[in-house]
Amino acid sequence: MNILTINGLSKTYPNGVKALDNVSIEIENGIFGLLGPNGAGKSSLMRTLATLQEADSGTAKLGETDIFNDPNELRKTLGYLPQEFGVYPRITAKQLLDHMAILKGITNSSERKEMVNYLLDKANLYDVRNKSVKGFSGGMKQRVGIAQALIGNPKLIIVDEPTAGLDPGERNRFYNLLADVGKEVIVILSTHIVDDVRELCTKMAIMNLGQIVYQGTPQNAIGELDGKVYQKIVNRDELQEYAQNYSIISNKMSGGQPLIHVYNESNPNNGFEQVKPNLEDVFFSKINTSNILV
Ligand SMILES: Nc1ncnc2c1ncn2[C@@H]1O[C@H](COP(=O)(O)OP(=O)(O)O)[C@@H](O)[C@H]1O
Ligand SMILES: [Mg+2]
Repeated sequence: MNILTINGLSKTYPNGVKALDNVSIEIENGIFGLLGPNGAGKSSLMRTLATLQEADSGTAKLGETDIFNDPNELRKTLGYLPQEFGVYPRITAKQLLDHMAILKGITNSSERKEMVNYLLDKANLYDVRNKSVKGFSGGMKQRVGIAQALIGNPKLIIVDEPTAGLDPGERNRFYNLLADVGKEVIVILSTHIVDDVRELCTKMAIMNLGQIVYQGTPQNAIGELDGKVYQKIVNRDELQEYAQNYSIISNKMSGGQPLIHVYNESNPNNGFEQVKPNLEDVFFSKINTSNILV
């Protein structure tokens, strides 16, 4: 069993943006969802854990390895798929993985060949192994990205917003691949898409403005909201008034009219009806109105 322990990480960029504000998380084997809106600090956290940038303060340990004091040791057991993995040279999937394996230090050519074939098969890319990666669809590229992150049997796999831009079918294939590899290692998946977490993750954290505003299981987070989420279809010109009088946690269109979810300790009446909370309610309540929930 691996354990990743992150303690008190903070980072302020030279422009004054505090991207990480005292972040502490403990992560065990399995797929861990790091959910947060754009700008929350997810990529900053992932790059820091991948030892690509330094934090101002705080510690991170993978098992006994101190990640910041011993980055080379960490890199041996790290697989990383950055958010921007879009630039591919004009080479085939097989050549690309072979090249990345050499960079990872797998110099024995028969060992490398075996590993590349295994990964091509696992990522469902074997049939297209001799095709240029440049011509691949978004989903296929992401599967190449995951395959390269798996080179060398990493114990910690970090994937930063891997599903953004994938169509539903591609997303499903990507989910299956991740679920398959995520059993015996730590996978940290960052996303702003609630469905990713609902489908894949048993543990999660919600991040906003550099801070961890929830950490636990999706079920517990949903349970905390039980009986406290109410919905109503309102007129568009009434929205402002509702926003003043209620804690609106989400606002979606339903048949052309706003359907609002509000957080309230008891039934607000006034035409509201109670709904079963979902992970989206959790997400929006934590990032909009986290102060009223604690
Ligand atoms: N290199 C950088 N220099 C200055 N500000 C940055 C840099 N990288 C990110 N930021 C800022 O830090 C905040 C967090 O960004 P980021 O970690 O990319 O969040 P996320 O991945 O959740 O969208 C944002 O306000 C972003 O504009
Ligand atoms: Mg990001």
